[in-house]
Amino acid sequence: MTDLSTLIRRLECAHSLRLEDYQTLIEERTPQAAQQLREAAVRVRKAVYGTAVYVRGLIEISSYCKNDCLYCGIRRSNRLAQRYRLTPEEILSCCEEGYALGFRTFVLQGGEDPWFTDEVLCPLIAQIKARWPDCAVTLSLGERSDESYKALREAGADRYLLRHETATKSHYEALHPAELSFDNRMRCLQVLKELGYQVGCGFMVGSPHQTAQDLARDLKFVEQFRPAMCGIGPFIPHHDTPFANEPGGSVELTLYLLSILRLIEPELLLPATTALGTLDPIGREKGIQAGANVVMPNLSPVSVRKKYMLYDNKICTGEESAQCKGCLAARMASVGYELVTHRGDPMAWKG
Ligand code: 5AD
Ligand code: FES
Repeated sequence: MTDLSTLIRRLECAHSLRLEDYQTLIEERTPQAAQQLREAAVRVRKAVYGTAVYVRGLIEISSYCKNDCLYCGIRRSNRLAQRYRLTPEEILSCCEEGYALGFRTFVLQGGEDPWFTDEVLCPLIAQIKARWPDCAVTLSLGERSDESYKALREAGADRYLLRHETATKSHYEALHPAELSFDNRMRCLQVLKELGYQVGCGFMVGSPHQTAQDLARDLKFVEQFRPAMCGIGPFIPHHDTPFANEPGGSVELTLYLLSILRLIEPELLLPATTALGTLDPIGREKGIQAGANVVMPNLSPVSVRKKYMLYDNKICTGEESAQCKGCLAARMASVGYELVTHRGDPMAWKG
C-alpha cells in the first residue's frame, strides 16, 4: 500500500490520483497528512495567485424556491421560512454600493424563483454590465432551461455557479426529492460550460449519508470536469428541515479537501465559504491558509439577510456591506493576504 505522503507528492506533480487513492487519502486522514497537504497547497496557490484574495459581492436576490432539497432551509416545504425577493432596482442599488466599496464581481444568488424570468433577468444583467463594464456578473440561480442559460449569457452574464452537490447518483437521490434529477444537474453543468460561462460546481462536506467514496467521486469529478471554480463548505443542519437532527460537517475535513482541490487544479477559484466561517470563527482564514483564494462577503440589504437562511446560525446577517468587506479585509490581512479590486478571473482565462 502506498503511504499518504507518497500519494500527496504524486498528486502535487500529476494533479490527479486514482479514485481509490482519493478515497484512501480521505479515509486515512491524519494531522500529518493535513499539514503536508496544506503546505503543498499554499505553495501552489502562492505560485499562481500570490497573496491575492479575490472578492465577490454576494447579492441574495430571492428566498422563494420551487425546489425541496432536503438539506436546505429555504426549501418550499419549509412553511416557516421567511420569503422575500429584491426588485431589479434594489439589486442595482446593491451593485452601486458594492462598486463604491471596490467589488468588481456581483453574484446574483437565489432560490429557484419563477418570478425571475429571462424577461426580468436579461435587462437587469445588461444594465449592470452597461453601468459597470469592468465588472463580472455571476449567476447562482439553480437549474434553468438551456434556452434560458443561453439568453442570460447573451445578456452579459460571465459566470454561473451550480453546485453539483454530490457526484454519486444514489447519494444525490438521498438528498433530493424524486422530481430532481442527478442527470439533469450534470447536464446543466455541461451546457453552461458549452455556452462559455466560467462554471463553478461544488459540494457539501459531511452531508447526510455521505461516504468517503462519495467524496472521492466529487474530487474525481472536479478533476475531470475542470470547472473554473469549486465551492465547498461543511453541511450545517437547519432546524426546520428533515435533516434537522443530522450531525454537521467537519471543518477539518473541509480544509483537507480544499488543499486537495488546490493540488488537483492549481488555478481553481476556491472560496473560503460562509459555512466555514459559521462553524469556526476563523474558518475563512483557515480556508485561505489551506489553499482557498476567494471570499464572498454579503452585499444583500441588511433588511433581508435573516431571511436567506439556508442553514442555522449563518454569519453576517446583521452587518452592513461595508462592515463585511472591511471585516474580511482585516481577517485576510491578519494571515498575510490581501483583498484585490478587480474581476478576479481564473489565471488562464482567455475569455
Ligand atoms: N448546509 C450547508 N450548505 C448548504 N447549502 C444548502 N443548504 C445547506 C446546509 N444546510 C449549500 C448547497 C447549495 C448552496 C447554495 O448552499 O450546496 O448549493
Ligand atoms: Fe461579514 Fe465579517 S465578513 S462581518
